[in-house]
Amino acid sequence: VALNKDHLERAYEQEQLAYAARLLHAGEIVVFPTETVYGLGANALNPRAAEKIFLAKERPFSDPLIVHIADEQGLESLVASIPAAARQLAAAFWPGPLTMILPAGPQVPGLITSGLPNVAVRMPDHPIARALIRAAGIPVAAPSANRFMHVSPTTAQHVYDDLKGRIPLILDGGPCTVGVESTIIDLCTDIPTILRPGGISLEALRQVLPQVQPPQSRQTHTEDLETARVAPGQMLIHYSPKVPTYLFEGSVEAMRQTILDEVKQRQRQGEQVGVLIADEDLNAFHESGAIVYSLGNTLEQVATRLFAGLRTLEDAGVDVILCRNFTAQGLGLAVRDRLLKAAGGKVKTLNNT
Ligand code: TXA
Ligand code: MG
Repeated sequence: VALNKDHLERAYEQEQLAYAARLLHAGEIVVFPTETVYGLGANALNPRAAEKIFLAKERPFSDPLIVHIADEQGLESLVASIPAAARQLAAAFWPGPLTMILPAGPQVPGLITSGLPNVAVRMPDHPIARALIRAAGIPVAAPSANRFMHVSPTTAQHVYDDLKGRIPLILDGGPCTVGVESTIIDLCTDIPTILRPGGISLEALRQVLPQVQPPQSRQTHTEDLETARVAPGQMLIHYSPKVPTYLFEGSVEAMRQTILDEVKQRQRQGEQVGVLIADEDLNAFHESGAIVYSLGNTLEQVATRLFAGLRTLEDAGVDVILCRNFTAQGLGLAVRDRLLKAAGGKVKTLNNT
């Protein structure tokens, strides 16, 4: 009998999805791919299931979770009301990398919202995520599937490296296409405000809601839990690789030259240096002796490769990561935010030459 390979693969995928949905139903945690990063999911309406997320990640309970839905009914089941602005944004950007902060309905456990009156909701645009949420028939709470404070995972291998032994199943959907997390927009304030820049740009949001405000700039460097409660998700150090990371900003020429000088100086001290740069810098670093990771050309490529780049250099055993900056336009705002967090505020601003 000639076996149809495609058919077998589809049947196998169906079987895995059904198994994952059964695990969610039974109050277990499951890792699944989304278009942004991998998520560590549990039944959002079951606090004992959601608690397992916090334990596996070693995440403090003061950091609330995003709830993932597959359709509009899912939204109705979670919120107390739906402002007109939310309907407009949903029509424009869902499914996709946008999370909306909305007034929580009474059925949402306090564990999900960290006791806040609002809930974060997102409809992801990934066939496996959507099929899983549909098959489970429940809203799925899911943070990024990394250890707390580590870089978000954009491949199943990244998840395994952080959480092996702590989770029963990872659904492998290959590398995530967007690569940075969703944009979080607060619709519970008078003026819609971005809390975290992400896969949907400020410019795109303003085409639908011109009054959208950019994220408040955070000059301060805080791990203070009091601040974390005031502004969840706004802790400056959040995506740190295990290696000290420095961000350089200025003109492309100035960044390139200063990073090259810094590489030489550190090498003289016996350090192994990793650099995160763009394709246009490759020639300049060809003979630098640094371990080079190029994030590509376009901002889309940079976003997609950013977290893999940080993890690759970390795994290469470098003593320090030096990274160039990118424009703050479009997806660049999210890229810059993640680089700033990775650097934990260690930024060198150069005079343009
Ligand atoms: O792209 C994404 O958003 C990924 C994928 C898996 O969907 N998820 C993700 O989740 O990045 P997480 O937990 O790593 O980041 C969610 C952020 C947290 O920093 C949390 O503080 C914030 O959203 N958040 C959740 N609920 C909130 C709420 N009710 N009010 C304000 N911020 C909230
Ligand atoms: Mg996260």
